Amino acid sequence: MINLQRLSRFAGNLAARGPIYAQIAYSIDSAAPLGGEANWNFWTKQSPVGLRFARSYPLKSTREKYLTSMLKADHASGIEAHYDVSNDFYALFLDKKYRFYTCAEFQNGEDTLEKAQERKAEHIRSLLDLEGDEKILELGCGWGSMLKFLRDRGHRGHLKGVTLSKEQLSYVKDTLGLDASLSDFVTDPFEGAPYDRIYSIGAIEHVKPDELEGLYQKIYDALRPGGLSVHQFFSLELEPYPSAMVASQLFFPGSLLVMHDVHVKAAEKAGFTVRRDSIHDYRPTLRAWYERLTGKQEEALKLVDLRTYNRYMIFFPVSWLFFQLEEAKLHRIVLEKPVS
Ligand SMILES: C[S@@+](CC[C@H](N)C(=O)[O-])C[C@H]1O[C@@H](n2cnc3c(N)ncnc32)[C@H](O)[C@@H]1O
Repeated sequence: MINLQRLSRFAGNLAARGPIYAQIAYSIDSAAPLGGEANWNFWTKQSPVGLRFARSYPLKSTREKYLTSMLKADHASGIEAHYDVSNDFYALFLDKKYRFYTCAEFQNGEDTLEKAQERKAEHIRSLLDLEGDEKILELGCGWGSMLKFLRDRGHRGHLKGVTLSKEQLSYVKDTLGLDASLSDFVTDPFEGAPYDRIYSIGAIEHVKPDELEGLYQKIYDALRPGGLSVHQFFSLELEPYPSAMVASQLFFPGSLLVMHDVHVKAAEKAGFTVRRDSIHDYRPTLRAWYERLTGKQEEALKLVDLRTYNRYMIFFPVSWLFFQLEEAKLHRIVLEKPVS
């Protein structure tokens, strides 16, 4: 049966937000659960001509205006919308031991998600260049994955995380017994500063463009001289207001990625020396999460409503396409605060 309300929403979205946003919003409202190869292929195998057309709308000036208006929301509302869904739902598709909700390091088709996440964690640990007693702060600690990994590897110094998600906080504190607080790392002071190391994994994507310089300065000021700051994040490569960012408001309301060179300039302006900047491939992780969640459809639908489930079944393949088209790349950077 034709759902007229749904069709009229599609038409309104098409005119105001362009074809990518309209198609995603329409599919989230699907009356049946999405999943499987057909759904993956629908989102990832677009014709080049169709894509070129879709990416041109809405027009650049409209994209900029809309995204600027979306940035007015506070950080917490966007974070709650995405993360405070259900911890058990996330557990269905994240790696079993650490629950990283960030890009893993796959080396070949044989790797499990678990192995690839631990390889990523080990790489970040090596970038942190630890002796074992450092006092460390994680910005946006998620389900405490990296903090737990460091503890498991015998780190003795104090480990502290901050998140804006209440569901994550209760898991990190009550289940893992780690030190964490509900705090906005952009607007709140860093409790417990100075630190020897400050890192983030998949969190500064949520920082708004005009907050970036202030954040790097705050990190710099909260580090001891000679301290290191390591960040894994994805940033834009082609243009500052792509239509993909308009569509991404359906997944991360109020977040807008920043061009990579803007990150680097902001870090250098704060006083950091960029010691390392490497690029990694997000696509295998997105595919792995998709396969797990599509295989757990029945359980997922007992934990979240159909719209939420469908949202993730679209989020993973469209994000895969976003990286495939190199609109954004995943970076790991190491920043050093000079000794004097
Ligand atoms: C994609 S998750 C990554 C979590 C974790 N680092 C991992 O590797 O799985 C992003 C995290 O950043 C947090 N976050 C985003 N913006 C934040 C802010 N302004 N203040 C505090 N936490 C924030 C979210 O609450 C979430 O925990």
